[in-house]
Amino acid sequence: MQRVLLDVDTGIDDALAIAYAVRSSALEVIGITTTFGNVSVDNATQNTLHVLEQLDAADIPVAKGEAAPLFHPLFKSYPSEIHGEVGLGLWSASEPASKPVSTPAGAFIVEQIKRYPNQLTLICVGPLTNLATAIMQAPEITSLVHQIIIMGGAVKVAGNRQMHAEANIYSDPEAAQFVFQSGAPITLVGLDVTMQTELNSEDVRRWREQDTPLATFLADVTEYYINGYKKLYPDREGCALHDPLAVAVAIDPSLVEIQPMVLQVDLEGVHSYGRTVADLRERCTAPPNVNVCVGVEAKRFQEHFHRTIME
Ligand code: BDR
Ligand code: CA
Repeated sequence: MQRVLLDVDTGIDDALAIAYAVRSSALEVIGITTTFGNVSVDNATQNTLHVLEQLDAADIPVAKGEAAPLFHPLFKSYPSEIHGEVGLGLWSASEPASKPVSTPAGAFIVEQIKRYPNQLTLICVGPLTNLATAIMQAPEITSLVHQIIIMGGAVKVAGNRQMHAEANIYSDPEAAQFVFQSGAPITLVGLDVTMQTELNSEDVRRWREQDTPLATFLADVTEYYINGYKKLYPDREGCALHDPLAVAVAIDPSLVEIQPMVLQVDLEGVHSYGRTVADLRERCTAPPNVNVCVGVEAKRFQEHFHRTIME
C-alpha cells in the first residue's frame, strides 16, 4: 500500500477524491490537510470531517491549514455556483463529531514526510499555500518526499478561473511558483487532462440505485456540481473529475501520459496572472522541473473510479 497525504479545499470534487483515496486498496491515507479555495478553510475543514464520517474513516487525522494566500489578499468570493455556499452543494449536516488535530497543516506535512522518509506521496488538490508553508519551514522535505501530485494548472489549454489561469494556481500563484521551483518531484495533473474526464447524470442515477447512505450522499452533492457545470459548459454532459484524477495518478500512473517540462507561474501578467507557462521550445535546454500530464485514458480512469468507490 502506498502511503498518501491529501491536501484539500473540500469542495465537491475534493469530496469525491477523498472517497476514492480512502476506498482504494492501493492507498493508505495517513492524513488530510485543509486549505481555503473552493470555500473558507473553516468550511473546507468541516466538510472534510463530514466526508470522512460518511466513509466511516473518522480516525484519519485532519489538520487545518492556511486561511488566505501567502501574499495577495483573499479573493472576494468563493465559487458557490459550482460547489455551493459551504462547499458540498445543498447538503447540510450537523456539526461533525470529530475535530481537527491541533497541529497546523504546514507543520503536519513536515512531520509526516519526516516520519516516512522517501515513502510518502502528497496529493494536493487545492491552492498550494499549505505546501509552500511546509517547504519554507523545512526545505529538506523536498528531497524526503516520495512524490507530489498536484491538481492544478492549464499548460496547453484555456484556464477556468481566468482566461489562462486554473483555479487552484490562481488562488495562490506565488505559493505555486515557489513550490514548482523548490526542486521537489512534482507531477502536474492540470485542466489539460482533467477536462477530458466526466461524471454525468447517468452515473448519479447508478449511485441512487445503490441506495446506501454513502451513495446517496455522493449523488446529492454531485448533482449540484453537475448542474453548476452545465451552466458554465452547456456542451458538456456532466462535470469534470479534477481532483479524483490526481488520486488516480497515485494509484496507477499508466493512466496518464507525462511530459517533463520547464514550468513557471506568471506572477506579473495583466491578463495572465496565475497562468502556468511552459517552455515548449525544442531548443530549451534547462532541466525540467515538473512532469506535466498531457494525455489521459479517461474511460479507464472513470470505470476504475466508480468501481473503487462502490466496492
Ligand atoms: C480545481 O479547482 C477547484 O474548484 C476544484 O476542487 C479543483 O481542485 C479545478 O480547477
Ligand atoms: Ca479542490
